[in-house]
Amino acid sequence: MKLKIALAAALLAVGFGAQAAPMVIKFSHVVADVTPKGQAALKFKELAEKKLPGKVEIQVFPNSQLFGDGKEMEALLLGDVQIIAPSLAKFGKYTPKLQIFDLPFLFDDLAAVDRFQASKEGQGLLTSMSKKGITGLGYLHNGMKQLSANKPLGMPADAKGLKFRIQASDVLEEQFKAVGGNPQKLAFAEVYQALQTGVVDGTENPWSNIYSKKFHEVQSYIMESNHGVLDYMVITNTKWWDGLPPDIRKGLSEAMTEAIKFGNKVANEEDANFRAKVIADNKAKVLPMSKEHLTAWRTAMQPVWKKFEGEIGPDLVKAALKANNH
Ligand code: LMR
Repeated sequence: MKLKIALAAALLAVGFGAQAAPMVIKFSHVVADVTPKGQAALKFKELAEKKLPGKVEIQVFPNSQLFGDGKEMEALLLGDVQIIAPSLAKFGKYTPKLQIFDLPFLFDDLAAVDRFQASKEGQGLLTSMSKKGITGLGYLHNGMKQLSANKPLGMPADAKGLKFRIQASDVLEEQFKAVGGNPQKLAFAEVYQALQTGVVDGTENPWSNIYSKKFHEVQSYIMESNHGVLDYMVITNTKWWDGLPPDIRKGLSEAMTEAIKFGNKVANEEDANFRAKVIADNKAKVLPMSKEHLTAWRTAMQPVWKKFEGEIGPDLVKAALKANNH
């Protein structure tokens, strides 16, 4: 009898009291919390935990704390992290198609990038790596890139012989070679020190990354070139994602859609504020680029398109150009 009562009590405890531990989901990225990506990751945590109470715990790791460039993609495929959002420049190893986003002077502005990403062609790219085990959950904006260096860059010839830090992208490598620069692929976490110690002379990044990582404190000039875009694809491990219980996958998917919307709002609204903060700090001189200068850079970099158009696919380039005209 005593045994029966004890057994019944234990069963009750399992049924009502002891809850299964929430599923831990790690979201790792390399930038600061204040940036569009940092804000989107935190919003995702808030929304996913609200939609799936007690079922999931989202752990966000900013600033390359958990995994930096070069390691995060491998970690995702190994199941050591479940969500990452690398820059579109960092997918070269997995699909040549995403190189489209690195072509210099392809998109007029972020609105054009947005239209291309929303198009049939842009959406198709989200599933272009599924055979490699990667599923795209959506695009996320950061912003247009600005050139920075330890000397003013007016005409392309001014970049001759300068060492530029680039993301791990063959297109960006050719972009700087096209103006006589020496590009070097470096992880994001190494950029500040590389600029500070003179390992490189210049780089390119949107305002939110420049300000939050203090690149303007170790660069003398920032040229408002808007010559390319730095955006992200939020990705997950296909096998892990497809194996989730349907209610969890649905909740996470909805939370991600909303979080991306929020991050994109931050990207659109805060870009000018980050620029203003860099100017107010008065460490680097921010220089406008004249139409004449920009035309010269565009012309100098145009051969890069020809070089990569074949592997990217001319149809994609056409669709991207169409997004400039609306
Ligand atoms: C960079 O390496 O410059 C960027 O991709 C960092 C980021 O994630 O915005």
